[in-house]
Amino acid sequence: MTNILCIGAGYVGGSTMPIIASHCPQHRFVIVDINDARIAAWQSDQLPIYEPGLDEIVHQTLGKNLFFSTEINRNIAEADIIFVSVNTPTKMFGQGAGRAADLQYWEKTARQILENSTSSKIVVEKSTLPVRTAEAMERILNSNGNGLHFDVLSNPEFLAEGTAVHDMQNPNRVLIGGRETEAGQKAIESLVEIYAHWVPRERILTTNLWSSELSKLVANAFLAQRISSINAISALCERTEADVNEVANAIGRDARIGSHFLRASVGFGGSCFKKDILNLVYLCEHYGLPEVAQYWEQVVTMNEYQETRFAANMVTSMFNTVAGKRIALFGASFKANTNDTRESPALEVCRALLAEQADIVITDPHAMENACYDLKELATRVVFEPDPYIAARSAHAIAILTEWRQYTELDYEKIHHSMVKPAFIFDGRNLLDHKRLYKLGFNVYPIGKPPLTHSLINHS
Ligand code: NAD
Ligand code: UGA
Repeated sequence: MTNILCIGAGYVGGSTMPIIASHCPQHRFVIVDINDARIAAWQSDQLPIYEPGLDEIVHQTLGKNLFFSTEINRNIAEADIIFVSVNTPTKMFGQGAGRAADLQYWEKTARQILENSTSSKIVVEKSTLPVRTAEAMERILNSNGNGLHFDVLSNPEFLAEGTAVHDMQNPNRVLIGGRETEAGQKAIESLVEIYAHWVPRERILTTNLWSSELSKLVANAFLAQRISSINAISALCERTEADVNEVANAIGRDARIGSHFLRASVGFGGSCFKKDILNLVYLCEHYGLPEVAQYWEQVVTMNEYQETRFAANMVTSMFNTVAGKRIALFGASFKANTNDTRESPALEVCRALLAEQADIVITDPHAMENACYDLKELATRVVFEPDPYIAARSAHAIAILTEWRQYTELDYEKIHHSMVKPAFIFDGRNLLDHKRLYKLGFNVYPIGKPPLTHSLINHS
């Protein structure tokens, strides 16, 4: 039996470890966190994150070979392999503020591992980190002078929220980076053996440490770049009567381009794309590559442009003022099937409309609590309403900001009747049947397609 510890019970630690535990019943898994409430929630009926299919896996393994705990020091001492999945947000102070990764949680963890270890261990970077972080970690961990040896591996996580269980069960690749020394290779093999319980060997890639660390940042940068590219084209489509969905389909059929991640939207959100690109930008600047840095920074700039453009388009279309108008925002999470609102474009649009003095009502099937927390400084100016029909009642406009399937199934005729006329729908996800909505009387503003508007003088 191997004792496997995961430090950090967030989205990554909390969704990956139960799945690994379910495939490796012979090993013992403990997940620890400094956040007592989170640890308690993982052991309750109401998990701290909404992730389809995860509840069953947690309940299958909990108390058998999976345990949650706040006793970090004792569990470090007992562990053979330690995964570290603490948060690595953008640094908001000092050198590199607004760009570099804030590594304080990671470094604290490394020192805590060092202080509490009485045996040699493998330490696995699961968090997303700047390239060459492992070098710093090795230096901290191997500064003990008490004969213990620590192998540091990089094993970045590629799961996406909302599909985390599927992504972990069927990864298109698992990436493990390690030192090219004998000890490093042995450590890599120990981790390969764990994943090989359910992942075909040919999908487990082993590389040097730096390639692995960098590949994670590059994967996110490429994915986000595709969204910014199609969103840039959506703006051009709106000026030229081209249809961005048709363009995406036409180019995506070219196998060299591929069809994934070409859905135009109000913008990409989530805790990682922006943070990881800014981190890449910072690294490029640090290594004296300003042109490379500027190239990648443009992906973030374009995303901010898309969010701003969406909100500005709402104001312009509604006769250049939304002051005092009730607007229902459908969706708060940064994508469907998650309660995560980190960097959600929905909240950016909300802030922009509040700046225009609109009366905002937010509805979302799973993310209201997080949205309420994120908007706490504006809470008195926002109404949170779980029922989309009530949210839309007496509203001038609806903005679709998250692609929840539920929103495709609503009775829009009933909704139209209950709204102030002329009634507007701004579909930031191109989710709904726009022609049908138009026939029902709505003025419809999709992304990257010409709007469908009735004569705004003679409305019914
Ligand atoms: P998170 O904020 O949800 O979770 C991090 C957890 O670490 C928190 O619960 C926090 O309390 C805990 N923590 C911080 N310092 C600690 C310490 N010293 N000891 C014990 N616990 C500590 O973050 P997340 O979304 O799980 O992301 C974690 C890392 O994984 C980040 O580097 C992120 O970039 C990366 N990542 C995230 C995703 C994702 O979908 N969210 C996917 C791939 C990679
Ligand atoms: C993303 C990556 O897909 C994961 O591989 C990675 O592990 C993770 O970041 C991470 O490092 O945190 P995630 O942010 O959970 O996963 O979700 P995505 O499905 O990538 O969506 C990100 C954002 O892009 C969402 O706001 C989504 O709505 C938007 N998006 C996605 C589009 O606007 N258009 C698309 O075509 C695809």
